[in-house]
Amino acid sequence: MAIERTFSMIKPDATKRNLTGKITAKLEEAGLRVIASKRVWMSRAQAEGFYAVHKDRPFFGELVETMTAGPTVVQVLEGENAILKNREVMGATNPANAAEGTIRKEFALSIGENSAHGSDAPETAAQEIAYWFSGVELVG
Ligand code: CMP
Repeated sequence: MAIERTFSMIKPDATKRNLTGKITAKLEEAGLRVIASKRVWMSRAQAEGFYAVHKDRPFFGELVETMTAGPTVVQVLEGENAILKNREVMGATNPANAAEGTIRKEFALSIGENSAHGSDAPETAAQEIAYWFSGVELVG
C-alpha cells in the first residue's frame, strides 16, 4: 500500500472545547503521523478561498462563519493509505451518520460544527496542503 499525505483540520468548535490532543491522538492511534501542524485563525478571505468549491452551496455563508469563529489547527498527515484512513477515523460529515468511535461521532456538535476536515482525494490533498503549508514546513 502506498505511503500518502493528506490534509486535516481540527475546526474551531473543537479547539474551543480543548479537543486538539484528543483528536490528534485518534489520528495517531490509526497509524497516521503528523508531519506538519500549526494553529491559525482564518480570515474570511482564507476561509472563502479554502472552501471555494462550496461557494454556491446554501450552507457556504454559515461554513465561512463557523471557520472564522476561532482558531483552527491545520495539519498534514502521512501514512499508508492516509487519505482514506483519515476519512475513516473522522467518520461521516454529518455526526448523526458517523460510526461509533469516530472523531465526528464522539466530538462533533452538528454537520456545520463537525470538529474535523480531511481531504477526499489525492488531488484535493495536494491542493489543500499547498494552501496552508510550504514544502519546508513538511517534515516527514
Ligand atoms: P467539511 O468536510 O469541512 O467540508 C465542507 C463542510 O461544510 C462540511 O465539512 C460541513 O462542516 C459543512 N456543511 C454545513 N452544512 C452542510 C451540508 N448540508 N452538507 C455538507 N456539508 C455541510
